Amino acid sequence: MATEGVDLKSNMGLFLMMFYLCCGFICLSQGIPLQSSYYKYSRIVIPPPNLQNSLREDHDVFNIVSYGAVGDGLTDDTQAFKSAWEAACTADHASTIIAPSGYTFLLHPFVFTGPCKTHLVFQVDGKIIAPDGPESWPKEISKKLWIIFQKTHGLTVQGHGLIDGSGHKWWDLPCKPHHHNQKTKKHENCDSPIAIRFLEGKNLTLTGINIMNSPQFHIRFDHCQHVTVDSISINSPANSPNTDGIHIGNSTDVIIHNSVISNGDDCISIGAGSHDLDIRNMTCGSGHGISIGSLGDHDTKACVSNITVSNCTIKHSDNGVRIKTWQGGFGSVSAVTFDGIQMDTVRNPIIINQYYCLSSSCSNKTSAVLIDTITYSNIYGTYDPKDPPVHLACSESVPCSNITLSGLDLRPAESKSRVEPLCWNAYGSILGDFNNPSVDCLLEGLPFSNVPNDGQC
Ligand SMILES: *[C@@H]1O[C@H](CO)[C@@H](O)[C@H](O)[C@H]1NC(C)=O
Ligand SMILES: *[C@@H]1O[C@H](CO)[C@@H](O)[C@H](O)[C@H]1NC(C)=O
Ligand SMILES: *[C@@H]1O[C@H](CO)[C@@H](O)[C@H](O)[C@H]1NC(C)=O
Ligand SMILES: *[C@@H]1O[C@H](CO)[C@@H](O)[C@H](O)[C@H]1NC(C)=O
Ligand SMILES: *[C@@H]1O[C@H](CO)[C@@H](O)[C@H](O)[C@H]1NC(C)=O
Ligand SMILES: *[C@@H]1O[C@H](CO)[C@@H](O)[C@H](O)[C@H]1NC(C)=O
Ligand SMILES: *[C@@H]1O[C@H](CO)[C@@H](O)[C@H](O)[C@H]1NC(C)=O
Repeated sequence: MATEGVDLKSNMGLFLMMFYLCCGFICLSQGIPLQSSYYKYSRIVIPPPNLQNSLREDHDVFNIVSYGAVGDGLTDDTQAFKSAWEAACTADHASTIIAPSGYTFLLHPFVFTGPCKTHLVFQVDGKIIAPDGPESWPKEISKKLWIIFQKTHGLTVQGHGLIDGSGHKWWDLPCKPHHHNQKTKKHENCDSPIAIRFLEGKNLTLTGINIMNSPQFHIRFDHCQHVTVDSISINSPANSPNTDGIHIGNSTDVIIHNSVISNGDDCISIGAGSHDLDIRNMTCGSGHGISIGSLGDHDTKACVSNITVSNCTIKHSDNGVRIKTWQGGFGSVSAVTFDGIQMDTVRNPIIINQYYCLSSSCSNKTSAVLIDTITYSNIYGTYDPKDPPVHLACSESVPCSNITLSGLDLRPAESKSRVEPLCWNAYGSILGDFNNPSVDCLLEGLPFSNVPNDGQC
């Protein structure tokens, strides 16, 4: 689920300690030379011919193979990544770390910690794979994370390589929600790693790379600023649980362009504390579409604003563009624009759900995250006629306000029976002469409400 918070902070100290204890032990027991003995190899000035064009001349190159990586897909290459990172991160020159093509590197959970001395490029041209499922996961290391970039400022991850989370055995765990296993104990630990998590990063760029089969979310940004994701691909089966493509939480100034995501949960999910996002020219599907939320869980505050999603295609998905909040909570979602979205056989192309609930027993509450100034324009294509193509279920106590719809052209796929739009407590207006379906259920004007119109954001 998009919102399932991972409380990394409280575990990070322990996690790092465990990791270094464990890693130190491995180094000693396997007699891997200390990083300093590799340092002399760190300045490989002439990159391999196939990289020459993509690397800047002024960059020092740190090839992980020169740091002892075997790259046979079986040997643990974590120490080589660690040594290369430490050398590049402390170098005075702009540096490029290379995981070269023709190799498969097995990487155990690892924290790449910044900030580094200069801008760093992480060039992935080969394949990086995770340990094969929970049984192979290093003991004593958190099962919530695999590759972590923490406090990196000015990092570019690029290349035409592949990052493979080896998720199959995690998805098969009986505790996963899609198995509906009645015998599973409610609190049974079902932790599964996020493939790549950026924490407190600034000025980050991800471009070109392919990521597949994450055990859980593929990429997650938390407390990051100034992020560009361009021309990447994410790929996991439609039935892989909780494999959100990109999750953004507590982050500002994020651009996600020109990428293709096919997975088993939200294509992009946007959590609390996210502002100034520009999502454009994405192809999503199969999956659960582009979602804001879920917000307001356990009566929490959620502020999300200035989000633009444009020129995207969403295929064979449960949802198209969705805003979901739990009952309770406060804050607001405001200034959101969905423009130029093509739907191909999507169950709920346009959906606001303020009654999000994973059990059958969520009670209605008197507070809610306010949803205000949401624009839907040029939303076209086909819907799966099981559900209304426009579904605006706003809170009973805090109505949605200033919703604008224009240029809708949504037709049922493979059926002549149309389903009528559904609105509940949704205020706003329809623009333009032609909308298919015509939406007659919006309430005009402004709602009467004693909630401050920014929901205290
Ligand atoms: C951000 O990174 C780029 C390189 O990708 C660099 O040129 C620029 O100076 C950085 N900006 C800031 C504000 O650090
Ligand atoms: C955002 O940050 C706040 C404060 O640090 C934290 O309580 C909350 O869980 C975070 N939310 C998400 C979605 O990461
Ligand atoms: C949109 O993204 C695709 C990759 O999915 C790319 O091939 C195409 O050039 C992009 N279009 C524009 C206008 O940038
Ligand atoms: C909204 O976000 C965009 C980036 O996506 C930014 O350029 C713009 O200045 C923001 N607008 C406001 C009013 O903050
Ligand atoms: C969306 O695509 C159309 C046509 O392909 C183009 O004219 C328009 O500028 C694009 N909008 C954005 C925001 O990229
Ligand atoms: C909550 O309110 C909605 C809208 O009034 C209603 O349809 C739903 O049945 C209520 N749920 C509960 C559990 O009372
Ligand atoms: C309503 O939304 C439009 C954009 O669709 C915006 O320009 C306007 O300022 C909003 N009105 C209010 C009262 O917030």
